[in-house]
Amino acid sequence: MTTEAEGKKVVLTGLKPTGKAHLGNYVGMLKPALSLMQAHPDYVFLYFIADYHALTTVRDPSRFRELCYDSAATWLALGLDPDKAILYRQSDVPEVFELNWLLACVTPKGLMDRAHAYKSAVAENQARGGADPDAGVNMGLYNYPILMAADILLMQTDLVPVGKDQIQHVEFARDIASSFNSAYGRILKLPEHVVQEEAGGIPGLDGRKMSANYGNTIPLFASSDELRKLIFQIRTDSTAPYAPKDPAGSVLFLLYSEFASREETEAMRRRYLDGRISWAEAKEQVFRVVDSFLAGPRRLYGSLMRDRAAIEAALTKGAAKARALGSPLMARVREAVGRP
Ligand code: TRP
Repeated sequence: MTTEAEGKKVVLTGLKPTGKAHLGNYVGMLKPALSLMQAHPDYVFLYFIADYHALTTVRDPSRFRELCYDSAATWLALGLDPDKAILYRQSDVPEVFELNWLLACVTPKGLMDRAHAYKSAVAENQARGGADPDAGVNMGLYNYPILMAADILLMQTDLVPVGKDQIQHVEFARDIASSFNSAYGRILKLPEHVVQEEAGGIPGLDGRKMSANYGNTIPLFASSDELRKLIFQIRTDSTAPYAPKDPAGSVLFLLYSEFASREETEAMRRRYLDGRISWAEAKEQVFRVVDSFLAGPRRLYGSLMRDRAAIEAALTKGAAKARALGSPLMARVREAVGRP
C-alpha cells in the first residue's frame, strides 16, 4: 500500500441522508464515531455522506440535495474537524461505483436474499397478503449491501463504527471481500465493525426504535422549544411520581446518561432507585442536559446551512483526499481482474 494510510488503522463510516439527523443517529453512530477520533489521533478517519445509498428511497431532487447538505453540516456542527477526518460525499468518488460492480460479480445472490432490509420488505409484502413478495423493492435496495461493501473495501478499512442495525452489512462486506480474494488473491482487507455496547438503539417517541421510517424521532437540531416539547412526549409507564423507578428500562434515563457526565448520571440513577424523581422532573432533566449539549452545535449547524459554498468547499477537499486514498487499491483491483 502506498498511501498516507500506510501502517495506520483506517476507520470509516457513512451517514445516509434520508432524513434529518436525530438523537438515535447521534447516540448510535455519530457520537461513537466522533469519540473514536478523540481516542485515536493516530488513526486515519473517513467519514462520508452515503448520498447514492439514499436514492433507494429519496425521489425528490431538491429534498435529496438538502439532505446531503444537512448530513455534511451535521458532521461539521458536531465538531468533526475536516483536517483530522476526511469528510466526503460518496458520489464524488467514482471508484466506489466501479468497485461496486466488480464486487457484485463475485457476490452470491443468496447473500443479498438474506439481508435484513430486503427480508423485512418481503415479510411486509407477505403480511399484507400481496401477490408479489418483491413489490416495491428496487434493485438499489437489493444491491445496497454491495455498494456499502465497496465504500468500506475501497479504503482498506480496518474498523467501521456503526449502529447495531448495520452489523450485518459489515459482515457482508467481509464475506464479499473473501469471495473476491479467493477468486483473485489477497487484495481486499477484511473490515470489522465497532458497536457501542449500550447503543441497542434509542427508542423513539412511540417506544419503537427511533427511526425516520417510523416518524418517531427527535431531530438533533430541533429548536430548544421543539426539543422540550418532543422530550415531554416520550412515553413513560404509570409508576407513581415518587415511587422507585428502574433506570435500566427507562428511555429517559438512557438519554440522560448519553448526555450527562458520569457523576450526574450516577446521582440520577440514585434518584430513580430511591424514588426521588417524577417522570415530569426526569423529562425536564433530560431536556436540560440535551439542550445544553446541543446549543453550540445547533448554532453552528444553522450557520453552515446558510453557507452552502463552505460545505461544498469542505466536501470537494475531502473528495480529493478520499480518491487519493482509494485509487491505488482500485488500480490493483483492476489489474487483478485482468483489465489491461
Ligand atoms: N448503511 C448505512 C446506514 O444506513 C450508511 C452507510 C453506507 C455506511 N455505506 C457505509 C455505514 C459504509 C458504514 C460504512 O446508516
